[in-house]
Amino acid sequence: MTLKPYARPHVQPEDIDAVCEVLRSQFLTTGPKVPELESVFATLVEAQESVASSNGTTALHLASLALGLKPGDKVIVPALTFLATANAVRMCGADVVFCDVDPATGIMRLEDVKEAHARTGEGVVAIYPVHIGGHCADMKSICDYARAQGWKIVEDACHALGGTNHGAKVGACAYSDMACFSLHATKSFTASEGGMVSTNNPAYAEKMRVLRSHGMTPDPDTGPWAYRMDELGFNYRLTDVQAVLAISQLSRMEDVRQRRAEIASQYRAALSSFSPYVKVVPASGNGEPLLHLFQLAIDFEGLGKDRATVMKALLQRQVGTQVHYIPVSQQPYYEKLYGVQEMPGADSFYKNVLALPYYVGLTDADVRAVIQAVQDICARV
Ligand SMILES: Cc1ncc(COP(=O)(O)O)c(C=O)c1O
Repeated sequence: MTLKPYARPHVQPEDIDAVCEVLRSQFLTTGPKVPELESVFATLVEAQESVASSNGTTALHLASLALGLKPGDKVIVPALTFLATANAVRMCGADVVFCDVDPATGIMRLEDVKEAHARTGEGVVAIYPVHIGGHCADMKSICDYARAQGWKIVEDACHALGGTNHGAKVGACAYSDMACFSLHATKSFTASEGGMVSTNNPAYAEKMRVLRSHGMTPDPDTGPWAYRMDELGFNYRLTDVQAVLAISQLSRMEDVRQRRAEIASQYRAALSSFSPYVKVVPASGNGEPLLHLFQLAIDFEGLGKDRATVMKALLQRQVGTQVHYIPVSQQPYYEKLYGVQEMPGADSFYKNVLALPYYVGLTDADVRAVIQAVQDICARV
């Protein structure tokens, strides 16, 4: 039996054909496929605009630059996320205020936001909720609170493409200023590497398009060759080769949604209650997710086996697993900057979480093999 990693891209013959067609064209860098992807994506998430970038991290950085984050500003970020959410804030010289999360779901709640706000006091200008695994934060209540404080809202929706939040598409920005997505190969839809920001604010979109390409704008008054740079920009461009792969992948969204839902329901049926020490991480209940991760919460202490032992035993059965995430506040860089921080909800979620293989290419037999391995290995010793 071959290894089943926790995530695997689902590349189909039509994806390969589409990429080959671009390779035969004259545009290997940014050409017509990038604006085509932006248009397809904006339609899909029901936003006015979407801006492509080289990955989810640069999408978050561009969104932070569009907000105009600067040294002295503070941004509330959940402690339980990937490094990039917090790092995007630091890339602008602003400060991160870490916020705790629900110990059961790993998602930031309004009460956590209020606690972080009370702890830090003045100076918060924005909040970056994260939809871990595809389960959305309660954007309605967080948005009401944030707007009342005059904060901007950027969703880290890197895990959440294809989902809804309180009836609105994730990315429609019904409860935010911008939403950032990753098209990394581990995600449900990929460009190999890629990022997108959706927004209903054309000024943000325009600024991000300029900053993703060196801060450069045409200067026709000087001459047809001329360009000018008013602000420091970056090379955060996506290529047509990557864009066309994403366009092709996104055309299968409904099939992907259906297969991922089937796998999740097979896992749930078999793994929800076979052991008092193993639970499925519950949905946050704020919408209909297109799940990116299928995560268990395992009481390793009760089980009598530590996480490394369980992961190694599963790997021997060809079952790859992963942990999302070590609380970012615990990273040496952030501890040096802000000191050791108590985040009991994030700690508790991190202590138990384990993501199982979860991708469209898993067959029913693969899913059964994963279930059997989990049931065997997570039986009480
Ligand atoms: C929650 C979250 N935010 C941001 C990112 C960064 O995305 P990328 O890897 O495309 O830079 C990731 C990537 O895994 C992520 O999981």
